[in-house]
Amino acid sequence: MSHAENPAGTRRDFLYYATAGAGAVATGAAVWPLVNQMNPSADTRALASIYVDVSGVQTGTQLTVKWRGKPVFIRRRTQDEIDAGRAVQLTDLIDKNAENANKPGAEATDENRTLDAEGEWLVMIGVCTHLGCVPLGQQGEFGGWFCPCHGSHYDTAGRIRKGPAPRNLDVPLVQFTDDSKSTILLG
Ligand code: FES
Repeated sequence: MSHAENPAGTRRDFLYYATAGAGAVATGAAVWPLVNQMNPSADTRALASIYVDVSGVQTGTQLTVKWRGKPVFIRRRTQDEIDAGRAVQLTDLIDKNAENANKPGAEATDENRTLDAEGEWLVMIGVCTHLGCVPLGQQGEFGGWFCPCHGSHYDTAGRIRKGPAPRNLDVPLVQFTDDSKSTILLG
C-alpha cells in the first residue's frame, strides 16, 4: 500500500505502526484500567487501525500490543499448541462460538480461531471475559492462558475451559497485509 497515492493523508492519519519494541506492553495479572477502555484519549480513539510488524515473533513467543486501549496478544504457536487446540471437541467447550470478528457466528474450532489456515498465528484481545483482567500466557491447566483474578483457564486457542469467564477471548478484526506474513493489520 502506498501512502503516496493518498496525498491528503487521511488514511495515514489513522494508522500507527507498532513495532516489537515500541508497541510491546507488559502483561500481568493487573486489572487493565476500566477507565482506559471507557474514556480513551483522543489519540487512542484515532487509532482505528494499526499495522503491527510481526516479522520478529519467533515460534513459541508472543507479542503484546496496545490497541484501542486494550492489550492484544499476537502469539505464534508451536506445533504442540496447534495439535492441542485441534484435538479439542466442540462438546468440551463452554463457549461454542468462535468469538472471531472475522468469522461471525462460526463454531469455536481451533481452525476458526486462528489467523492462518495452518493455525500458527493466534491474535486475541488480551482481556479476560469475566471481569477484565489481563490473563497470563502459557499457564493454567490447558496450556494456554490463565487469569489469576478468579481462576479462569483458557486453552491454546484462547477458549475458556474452566472458571467463571463466560466467553472465549475475543478475536478482533485482523489480517495479514501480504503473503510473507510479516505484517498484520488490526481493525
Ligand atoms: S477477571 Fe479473569 S477470572 Fe475474573
